Amino acid sequence: MDRSARAAELRQILEHHAYRYYVLDAPEISDSEWDRLFRELQDIEAAHPDLRTSDSPTQRIGAPPIAGFEPHRHLTPMLSLDNAFGHDELREFDKRVKRGLETEDEVEYFAELKFDGASISLTFVDGALDIATTRGDGATGENVTHNAKTIRGIPLRLQEPLPGRIEVRGEVVMLKDVFAELNRAKAEKGDQLFANPRNAAAGGLRQLDSRLTALRKLNFYTYGTGAVELSTGRRLAGAQSAILARLRELGFAARTEPKVVKGIEALIEFIDGVQASRAALPFAIDGVVIKVNSLDEQEQLGFTSRGPRWATAYKFAAEQAFTKLNSVFAQVGRTGAVTPVADLEAVVVGGVTVTRATLHNYQELRRKDVRPGDIVIVQRAGDVIPEVVGPVLEKRTEDLPVPTTPAACPECQTPLVEKPGEVILRCPNKQCPAQISAKIRHFVHRGAMDIEGLGEKLIDRFLELGLLSDLPSVYRLRDHREQLVGLEKLGDQSIDNLLAAIEASKTQPLDRFLFGLGIRFVGDRGAKDLAKEFLTLERFRKATQEDLMAIADVGPRTATEVEEWLQDPASQALIDDLLECGVAPVEPEGPKSDLFQGQTFVFTGKLEKFARDAAEDLVGQMGGKAAGSVSKQTNYVVAGPGAGSKLAKAEQLGVPVLTEDEFLEMLPEGSL
Ligand code: IVH
Repeated sequence: MDRSARAAELRQILEHHAYRYYVLDAPEISDSEWDRLFRELQDIEAAHPDLRTSDSPTQRIGAPPIAGFEPHRHLTPMLSLDNAFGHDELREFDKRVKRGLETEDEVEYFAELKFDGASISLTFVDGALDIATTRGDGATGENVTHNAKTIRGIPLRLQEPLPGRIEVRGEVVMLKDVFAELNRAKAEKGDQLFANPRNAAAGGLRQLDSRLTALRKLNFYTYGTGAVELSTGRRLAGAQSAILARLRELGFAARTEPKVVKGIEALIEFIDGVQASRAALPFAIDGVVIKVNSLDEQEQLGFTSRGPRWATAYKFAAEQAFTKLNSVFAQVGRTGAVTPVADLEAVVVGGVTVTRATLHNYQELRRKDVRPGDIVIVQRAGDVIPEVVGPVLEKRTEDLPVPTTPAACPECQTPLVEKPGEVILRCPNKQCPAQISAKIRHFVHRGAMDIEGLGEKLIDRFLELGLLSDLPSVYRLRDHREQLVGLEKLGDQSIDNLLAAIEASKTQPLDRFLFGLGIRFVGDRGAKDLAKEFLTLERFRKATQEDLMAIADVGPRTATEVEEWLQDPASQALIDDLLECGVAPVEPEGPKSDLFQGQTFVFTGKLEKFARDAAEDLVGQMGGKAAGSVSKQTNYVVAGPGAGSKLAKAEQLGVPVLTEDEFLEMLPEGSL
């Protein structure tokens, strides 16, 4: 097969698997298989730039900045919707619809989630994404095609080459966990935070440099179509519900919640259900959109100057509330970060009673000019940790004192330090009881070692009694069983349960253990990457910045932090101590030897003894890495017949080139 045909084939294969992964949530191949195919396509395109098409999956990582946004006129305007607040306004809407349709019968509605993001219109020509635009003023939007291509849920090509032109409409959203993670990183750096996932999504869509859009990891959900100009002259389907089903077939992510309901009372029931389960959704919604399901009936109802008569948006109450800020106190985190926390007059926000909210850092506190005594806006953005948005200045009647920034740790009185380039104040005292308590809480919590029964209160009590002092001391609690049983409110049974949970945690998987260590920037996902990469605790302990940087999802910031942590003798002593206590993290299945440890191989040309992925797997099993392209970091290139540009590059860089047989000879007996 020639390169051009192979590139086309790879594009098709990759799009198919992206669809399986992002839309159907049912991948058919492993991540590494995906990476391999992706690299193969990247290599072909790098060697033959003329084979790089604008709809290639490799283009989803973003491209250099553009000069500005071109205006683009929508084929069909993007209208807004009327709002309905409360059940009565919904019943009014239903009455208007019935009047318009001149019927007394119950109307069939289609109820959908109202995504709280940024709307986008995608024009497909003969099945290929042609242009993506923001809503703009409704008639004309901005061309953001370069950015839309970085959004995974937006297909570059439909599942069918639908002849003609079609506008697919939907909402670009940022998932709540992505939002929380990006804001956490921003707070660490002292950058201004995203106010909510909607702003983060809308801002992401309007970047001039699409590489920045890609970093926001946005998602897309469709809710319908604009113009549909198919060469068959037909519409996509005859009902809103069928249009969505059809869009799903064409390769779009649509949610499963939408529902056809008959009559207003059934509709209200659906809406109340959505409202109740709203917090559990992975993205923010601000209501439910109700559409008359039949397209014929929609046509009959028509439009007002503002929007369709056949649809309305039922808006939920905002997840914001006003309350009084009683005081601001300093909290010490497990890395010693000292952050301001608001103590609030209790208030219900989005169905949850809130008495505390984060103010992120002292710089943010000053910027917002929040003062104790103020009435403040509290928000549960993305349903994560409640935060104080800002004061309601009109309600500030007297001169309120500006809260002071602490100079010393509120727990151990050690003077605080500020790392250059960071705004977070830190308590440098490793023995600070607040830090130790937070470290233990993190170590034992559900996502890490998962020791049930060891909560905050108990940890602090044990710390005071000297029964706990560091992470290993958790495993020495069993030596103090008598003393524990004697404590007030703790009986034999609960202590035995606790000690059993502690014992059981000794063999948690390696990634949970690494997460539990509480290394800065190493979250649960990062810990999984580390475990997968290093496979054993011993190898992780020796990781260098370079090793860490070689992991796809590890950036320089994390790599530096992890290396610094590993180079601190106290960290190594901590691991030794935990191992001595009998902690034995279960290591993932991985290499059978470390023969190729630290070595990178590139296979090129036709291999005759085994398939390329089998060869790459072998390298992995021997502790080495297989890469897709040749660089100075490559240790060996294994070249078979037909090898081309990679072989040339190896020769140019002086990288040793092996034949397949020579490679086989490096392997120990019986490893095949
Ligand atoms: S339908 C003519 N459905 O809400 C009907 N809109 O206030 C056009 N939105 O600009 C919109 N989720 O950006 C529709 N399921 C949904 C939606 C939705 C979010 C946004 C959309 C629109 C705005 C209307």
